[in-house]
Amino acid sequence: MTTGNKNKAKVLIVDDEIRVREILTRKLSDNGYQCLTAPDGNSALKLLKAEPFELVLLDIMMPGKSGSEVLHEIKLTYPDTAVIMITAVADVQTAISLMRMGAHDYIIKPIELNVLSLSLDRALEKRELIIENRDYQLHLEQRVEDQTTKIRQSFLNSTTSLAYALEAKDKYTHGHSERVTDIAVAVARELDIPKAMIEKIKLAGLLHDVGKIGVSELILNKPGKLTSEEFEVVKSHCEVGERILSPIVEDKEILEMVRHHHERYDGNGYPDRLSGKQITQGTSIISFAETYNNILSQGALALAVADAYDAMTSDRPYRPAMPNDAACSELEKCKGKQFDPVIVDAFLSLSGKGKKIMKLMPKLKNSERKKTLF
Ligand SMILES: [Fe+2]
Repeated sequence: MTTGNKNKAKVLIVDDEIRVREILTRKLSDNGYQCLTAPDGNSALKLLKAEPFELVLLDIMMPGKSGSEVLHEIKLTYPDTAVIMITAVADVQTAISLMRMGAHDYIIKPIELNVLSLSLDRALEKRELIIENRDYQLHLEQRVEDQTTKIRQSFLNSTTSLAYALEAKDKYTHGHSERVTDIAVAVARELDIPKAMIEKIKLAGLLHDVGKIGVSELILNKPGKLTSEEFEVVKSHCEVGERILSPIVEDKEILEMVRHHHERYDGNGYPDRLSGKQITQGTSIISFAETYNNILSQGALALAVADAYDAMTSDRPYRPAMPNDAACSELEKCKGKQFDPVIVDAFLSLSGKGKKIMKLMPKLKNSERKKTLF
């Protein structure tokens, strides 16, 4: 909010001569300004600390702090306060250096009241313009940021809907992304992974298979074994997913999780054959921040376990769903090879808490839970 209007503007008159202070107060009050006075620099700074002023009329030659010292402090601490310097000596060099320090104007005594009035109006107008322009720039940046977020969110919603539509067409994968997300998030919570990272895992989980949009349904739903060419096409969904999402998801860790959800802990997965060993260092967990950039993230490793578990416990065109115990045994067997042992242990400790895991999937209808739940 700016208050450049002179009927409201508060002016501090700083001059060691009482007569000057009185004359200026009278003149400016008649013109609608609210005036306070100070006889020296320190008193002026005290008043400025106590309440804001739109403008300060500041004498240069005063006992104690000089006008230029006070100007320096005002510009440092109260940059929105306009300052007009008053002096008895006409000195061009001093005037220039004071203007460089941020003074709005420089008036020579004896003061012509009309000149002063014009100078005040100009200084307050300039101050108001500066503040308005700054506010406009600030809000403009905010508006652009808001719009960008809205556009991104809208794209993201469309992409998520597309991924769901793709799953919904297939009775074997219906609800898969949500189940994978729920399991990966539960595992991440079990491992005390920070909340912000869990949010990323959530989004990556919901979108991890979005690249299957680019894979033919004939291949996805093929009842028999895939040829090696067909398998290569299926494998491409990780990279395709990353490509689809990269213009709308700024966060690189989410994109990495999507790209790497089929990587294996032992480095024999796809598409980049990254290893998880570097990040877990035996059984100790390293934070995502330290591990991101060159190797698999725990988010990707958690999604891999959740994805495999859901695939095993779901019917497929070429085989029936595996019972929960058998799927858990399979995870245990592949611990340290296909799967990160820390993630598998966290998952198995969760699966031992039967009721808790049921609560992880409230979004799924009972009919959708089929044989996949504990
Ligand atoms: Fe996948």
